[in-house]
Amino acid sequence: MSETIRVGLGERAYDIVIGSGVRALAAELTGRRNFLVTDSRVSELWGAWARETVPQAGWFEFPAGEQSKTPDTVIAICRRAAELQFDRQARFVALGGGVVGDMTGFAAAIYMRGVGFVQVPTTLLAMVDSSVGGKTGVDIPEGKNLVGAFHQPEQVLIDPDFLSTLPPEEIRCGLAEILKTGVILDEALFAALEREPETLRDGRNPERFVPLIRRSCELKAQVVAADERESGIRALLNYGHTFGHAVELLSDFRISHGEGVAIGMCCAGELAVRLGRWSRAEAERQKRAIAALGLATQLPRHCSVPAMLEAMHRDKKNRGGAVTLVLPKRIGEAETVRTVPDSEIASALEVLYD
Ligand SMILES: NC(=O)c1ccc[n+]([C@@H]2O[C@H](COP(=O)([O-])OP(=O)(O)OC[C@H]3O[C@@H](n4cnc5c(N)ncnc54)[C@H](O)[C@@H]3O)[C@@H](O)[C@H]2O)c1
Ligand SMILES: [Zn+2]
Repeated sequence: MSETIRVGLGERAYDIVIGSGVRALAAELTGRRNFLVTDSRVSELWGAWARETVPQAGWFEFPAGEQSKTPDTVIAICRRAAELQFDRQARFVALGGGVVGDMTGFAAAIYMRGVGFVQVPTTLLAMVDSSVGGKTGVDIPEGKNLVGAFHQPEQVLIDPDFLSTLPPEEIRCGLAEILKTGVILDEALFAALEREPETLRDGRNPERFVPLIRRSCELKAQVVAADERESGIRALLNYGHTFGHAVELLSDFRISHGEGVAIGMCCAGELAVRLGRWSRAEAERQKRAIAALGLATQLPRHCSVPAMLEAMHRDKKNRGGAVTLVLPKRIGEAETVRTVPDSEIASALEVLYD
């Protein structure tokens, strides 16, 4: 049983196929030479399956973790592809989480000025967010995702069975992104997470995640089709991210992306209430939902107010000028707010330390 969601982008349109067992479709990636890219952890767990199933003419593997998400790794991917004589017809296959997907997509965007690629996400975060939409890139010491390109995949194959090996802390990161999508676009999705948080905390019975993945992908597909290059509505998907990226950066990425986003949503929520844009009751509801999923709701001490502000101003969306933030209006609707004064941000952050 599988379902298909179309990302309507004209000549760059593509399908997202979702369902238990969908990974078997990777065997049908024939007709062109495939270059499979993955990380060390996914390779340990799913490498044997991939070697057997995905027809491939090359393989590249890098050490798992955000620390690998660098220009050097992307160049290493490209050099390996060149060594194996992949040409313009190459198809890169990203098997892994957001780190694998973002870097494989970026390598595909620049190798020979662009080759096709397919996403086979293996983390919940990648299934509900990063594998769809064509944002690719790497981190540099000056900031996360500062170097990259828009490059849409040709297909996204989402098989929830990969979640069976995913540690609970990684499941939680994906739940944070789903909750984010709920807060900005869909109260029903938010409520679905609220309803049974404890049964979603690990990857057992991956089937349970299918409705959440489907809805998240549907919403993301709509947003991307309406605003591929983020000149408008797509920016809403950054809810919680400006704060979140700052937290990630200030903790040298020991706090993961999803965890950062959860904390970031609490920061944005508190700020929205203080600015009179959101009700205290709904902000508390958001906080309870985040906590029930086992995610952090408070700022770690090492993320001081001045350090947070400085990191937020360095975030790529805020180059030059005041910080632009996404703030909720109600659960299911959010807006972009420009020129929020630093003093307001500071006083919201003050009350969020543990
Ligand atoms: N492009 C976008 O639109 C977009 C959106 C959101 C996030 N991102 C990016 O995604 C990245 C985070 O993605 P992530 O959370 O998937 O991180 P990740 O790719 O590092 O995966 C997390 C960990 O889980 C392991 N793993 C992956 N699949 C597994 C499985 N099935 N079983 C067991 N372990 C498995 C990985 O090896 C890694 O150690 C960040 O770099 C973020 O910037 C991009
Ligand atoms: Zn994110």
